[in-house]
Amino acid sequence: MISLEGRVCLVTGSTRGIGWATAAKFASAGARVILNARGADGGLEERRAELEAATGREVYALAADAGDPRQIKALYGQIFETFRKLDVLVNNAGVMRDARLGMVTPELVASVWSVNVTGALLHLQEASRLMSRGKSGSIINLSSIIGRVGFAGQTVYGASKAAIIGMTLAAAKELAAKNIRVNAVAPGFIDTDLTRALDPAKRDAVIHSIGMGRAGSADDVAGGILFLASDLASYVTGQILGIDGGMVV
Ligand SMILES: NC(=O)c1ccc[n+]([C@@H]2O[C@H](COP(=O)([O-])OP(=O)(O)OC[C@H]3O[C@@H](n4cnc5c(N)ncnc54)[C@H](OP(=O)(O)O)[C@@H]3O)[C@@H](O)[C@H]2O)c1
Repeated sequence: MISLEGRVCLVTGSTRGIGWATAAKFASAGARVILNARGADGGLEERRAELEAATGREVYALAADAGDPRQIKALYGQIFETFRKLDVLVNNAGVMRDARLGMVTPELVASVWSVNVTGALLHLQEASRLMSRGKSGSIINLSSIIGRVGFAGQTVYGASKAAIIGMTLAAAKELAAKNIRVNAVAPGFIDTDLTRALDPAKRDAVIHSIGMGRAGSADDVAGGILFLASDLASYVTGQILGIDGGMVV
């Protein structure tokens, strides 16, 4: 049994999908989980109450749009006021907007970049400031298999997820001396709202290319994230953990 007893853990984008599964695993491991999503409309408060009822743990909910630097700053101000520390950040909030190269517009690039890259980087920066005070912490960024091997129609998304790898490696080097570990996971094809929006023929073709013959579940990814967050990974930093059922071996 992995324990995160008493650890303050922020999971961005955690009302659905991988973020929600991760928050649930963290709460079950004894963490003080802070759920996050853009706003109350997405059911943030309902999800908070649901997780609290399911785990018997106190769960917190703080809205902030990862695409808005001011909201990110305010979020960390609230975390400091309430907890005075942060032990774990799961930098999970992300968007996927597909477009063939010829159809890519500056607006599309900006909309993906503001959340997946600028937002992730600002979360990383703010979290590391709080963690520096406590001289320890673990940050897990969400990259993607697409950032490593590419996929037609995903130049923008793929570039944003490759950027996550670059920021993970640089931050791991900067923060290791402060005992702050920075790692990333690179999930393959995971069954969430993000991938359910794909054309069914494309979906089937992708599933055929997976060694284990099935799409991953959000829970599959959450298990790897829990490991990286925990003391079992106390000497692991600067790593990109593929969680893809053998899609890339
Ligand atoms: N699913 C996959 O196959 C897969 C594979 C590789 C990597 N990933 C990465 O894993 C992460 C999670 O993916 P998922 O499939 O779990 O996504 P999802 O099912 O679409 O869930 C996304 C979550 O993020 C929140 N969110 C969206 N935009 C946000 C913003 N601007 N600020 C704050 N929260 C925001 C959503 O809530 P609201 O909409 O209410 O804000 C929701 O809780 C992403 O970074 C994604 O790129 C996913």
